[in-house]
Amino acid sequence: MHEFKYKNNRLYCEGVSVEALAKKFGTPLYVYSHATLLDHYHKLKTAFREISPLICYSVKANSNLSILKVLVGAGCGLDIVSGGELFRAIKAGCPANKIVYASVGKTDGEIRVSIKRGILFFNVESIAELENINRIAKIFNKTVNIAIRINPDVEPKTHKFITTGKLTNKFGIDFKSAYEIIIQRYRFTNLNICGLHIHIGSQITEPSPYVAAILKVTSFVNKLKAQGISLKYLNIGGGLGIIYNNENPQTAEKFAQKILPLLKNTGLKIIMEPGRFIAGNAGVLLTKVLYIKSTPLKKFVIVDSGMNDLVRPALYDAYHQLLPARSIHNAPLEKVDVVGPICESADYFAKERRMARVKSGDYLAVMGAGAYGFSMASNYNSRRRAAEVLIRGNRAVLIRKRETFTDLIQNEIIV
Ligand code: LLP
Repeated sequence: MHEFKYKNNRLYCEGVSVEALAKKFGTPLYVYSHATLLDHYHKLKTAFREISPLICYSVKANSNLSILKVLVGAGCGLDIVSGGELFRAIKAGCPANKIVYASVGKTDGEIRVSIKRGILFFNVESIAELENINRIAKIFNKTVNIAIRINPDVEPKTHKFITTGKLTNKFGIDFKSAYEIIIQRYRFTNLNICGLHIHIGSQITEPSPYVAAILKVTSFVNKLKAQGISLKYLNIGGGLGIIYNNENPQTAEKFAQKILPLLKNTGLKIIMEPGRFIAGNAGVLLTKVLYIKSTPLKKFVIVDSGMNDLVRPALYDAYHQLLPARSIHNAPLEKVDVVGPICESADYFAKERRMARVKSGDYLAVMGAGAYGFSMASNYNSRRRAAEVLIRGNRAVLIRKRETFTDLIQNEIIV
């Protein structure tokens, strides 16, 4: 479900027309629906109510403080991957005991603040990292909770750039090494190895890869149990896919039907880390058509947003639906490339796309831009990053100002 719909041929986000937003706040503009964010969170929460998991929204998907605050206010925890995300999580009011921290490269500084804050646990990805966290915990004279991130070596059936649970990926620890670590856990005097973590990839549209990974992990848990070792947490990661084009992803209910039976008798507290599932279809990127350009081979629609605002097409050849702010009945269709102003051929939103004819001055909504949109934005070509607004019913609230030219150079030192 999402709250971007046409009413009288005008595209609305909840109760506000996107054209009105574009006129008021300018473009490029990220627009988020409050109701959609919460609906996605509650769908997952409800589907898994039997085991009441801790849902830790993955901050990297969309880290705007107001977005985090909405979710934290609904009881959601947060999955972080850096000191910057920890800073955001705390600013958004997330209780430390609802924060989990994954990353193959946590620095000493990041480990120190996380320990001081008392996060729920670290998802640890190597022996070297375990040793380092143990060393730092010793200095603080604290015992720190650890979930070992397992690399279950399963195929998630998604884009190779967002596959994380194969042994060729840099993530996690193989079962054999994890077993040795856990058997020798007393070596780590200041660690409490109390959980396991998996995250096998992103934009996964069917439950079977999860089933395969969870079966492997729960049989590992049983093997440990047989040795008298019991754990407290199982973090099953994120990765739930959404609809961008013609995907037919599992719903939260369908996912739960397959996954719950594998989890409910484990006695483990389950953690989930969805990012895209919650934020992806809760946001769009609004852009204005600047020029139409015809060449001997193609027709280009040149818009005022680029790969610096939304890099997914350039990086993954990702498909994003493009919807006009005003839909015109029976508008002629034409095949176009929709491209941005940046000096790169990879700067596009659509290629050879059949869409209703648009003209200079029209607004387009790039759909499914709520996750990995703004959070991956850059200042490439010295472009200011976009403004962001959150819509709640008929109200639009600016949640991030458009950058200024001064912002662009504020950390630079002229010598
Ligand atoms: N947990 C961990 C440890 C992760 O690494 C990720 C995402 C998530 C949870 C959340 O995954 P999600 O539920 O959002 O799929 N930039 C790419 C996606 C990269 C995902 C990185 N890790 C994209 O735009 O498709």
